[in-house]
Amino acid sequence: MKSSHSFALLFAGSLALAAVAIGYPALGAATAPATPAGGGLTILEFKPAMDDLMTMLIQPRHMKLYYAGQQKNWTLAAFELNEMGAALRRIGQTIPKYRNISVDATVTSIFTPKIQAMNAAITAKNPQQFTSAYADLTEGCNTCHEGLEHPFLVVKVPDGQNFPDQDFRPVAAK
Ligand code: HEC
Repeated sequence: MKSSHSFALLFAGSLALAAVAIGYPALGAATAPATPAGGGLTILEFKPAMDDLMTMLIQPRHMKLYYAGQQKNWTLAAFELNEMGAALRRIGQTIPKYRNISVDATVTSIFTPKIQAMNAAITAKNPQQFTSAYADLTEGCNTCHEGLEHPFLVVKVPDGQNFPDQDFRPVAAK
């Protein structure tokens, strides 16, 4: 990690030197045009919106959490739940207010208790408790969608397998 970092620095440094040597402005210098004229790569600034973040960060973890629980893979279930909670916090930081409603406050009031109940079921390694906490958590998704003016966005407990490239069984059971 450290050595690749210093390699990257060295590499960047030699690029800058080479640029100076051949009389071109160094990479990233103020004189470099932001958008190259006549083609070339243009990197657009992309700020994911709430629907993008839900699709990228929340929906997959919601499913993976379920598959892990179905396989009694409590380590993976705890991981996915934690990922989902952390992603919700990041969403609150990126989009503090959605349609003038505080995202953090909505998560805290609607969703945090569901995450805690889910966590308790995973810690107890109890499949029945998992199933009921999962249904309840999923209701929490929909309560927030209703609260944030999207009642037509309805999520449900998965009724099919997804992510065929990931093994949800506990490592010891393989
Ligand atoms: C803080 C409130 C909140 C919580 C909690 C929440 N969502 Fe959302 N979600 C939204 C909002 C608001 C939208 C609509 C965003 C938009 O239109 O830009 C949305 C959109 C979505 C979408 C539609 C994205 C698309 O483009 O098709 C999905 C799927 C989704 N959420 C899944 C979930 C799941 C699964 C959970 C629970 C694990 C969840 N959401 C929890 C607020 C929330």
